[in-house]
Amino acid sequence: MNSKASNADLAPEGLPRHVAIIMDGNGRWAKKRLLNRVRGHEKGADAVRGIVRTCRELKIQVLTLYAFSTENWQRPASEIKALMGLLKKFLTEEEQQLTKNNIRLEVIGQPQRLPDDVQAIIRQVRGATAANDGLVLNLALSYGGRTEIVEMVRTIAAKAAAGTLQPEAIDEALVADHLYTRHLPDPDLMIRTSGEMRISNFLLWQLAYAELFVTPTLWPDFSPEEFIAILKDYQQRERRFGKVPAQPES
Ligand code: IPE
Ligand code: IPE
Ligand code: MG
Repeated sequence: MNSKASNADLAPEGLPRHVAIIMDGNGRWAKKRLLNRVRGHEKGADAVRGIVRTCRELKIQVLTLYAFSTENWQRPASEIKALMGLLKKFLTEEEQQLTKNNIRLEVIGQPQRLPDDVQAIIRQVRGATAANDGLVLNLALSYGGRTEIVEMVRTIAAKAAAGTLQPEAIDEALVADHLYTRHLPDPDLMIRTSGEMRISNFLLWQLAYAELFVTPTLWPDFSPEEFIAILKDYQQRERRFGKVPAQPES
């Protein structure tokens, strides 16, 4: 099935502006097939291409993909090396497509912890796509929600200590302005594949009012068709933000 055919009854005005995805289950996908975990990560990269294409076709503004967490540094060195190699391969192969398709690459997390060659390709693709104003492909790399909050607190505290910021001036908007995502809207929809009912240190502040969707599908099997079905489910939901149903704007 082609994603264009199946998205016909999606209401364009009710689409999420920002979709965030915890791409989980690559290892289990490989294990089920008696393959090395790395093969699961390779297949996972193909799934990324399909979802990026669908987001672009649907004119979704931001797609954030959790690709590597601060906790993932604790995995075996061989798996980390393979993941970094795949990331480099993916960005090298996709540079042209991203440029041509008006997609802007952004990164949240601690890119400075990544190997030098990965940092270099990130710089290159970010530079090449910087002027693109279509979909933002936001990769969470060496990302941890708690680290992000610690860094935010440190920056704000330093400003307060230097006397350039009064503690009374600290409000939600100021906090949001000191996070990695300062220039992005909060996610409207967060999807996790592979059935785990947890957020694993992902976007702790930004997910406050996101709609959550967990699918048992393992990430390498996650298709544009299933993504569109989730978007349809999202469109049926009522987002109340603490108000009573259908309360008029005040
Ligand atoms: C997600 O798949 C990819 C990363 C976390 C980098 P996993 O590697 O976590 O796969 P499972 O959870 O072991 O199946
Ligand atoms: C979350 O998946 C991180 C990424 C998808 C990059 P994990 O597989 O690392 O999460 P846990 O360990 O199951 O919580
Ligand atoms: Mg996992």
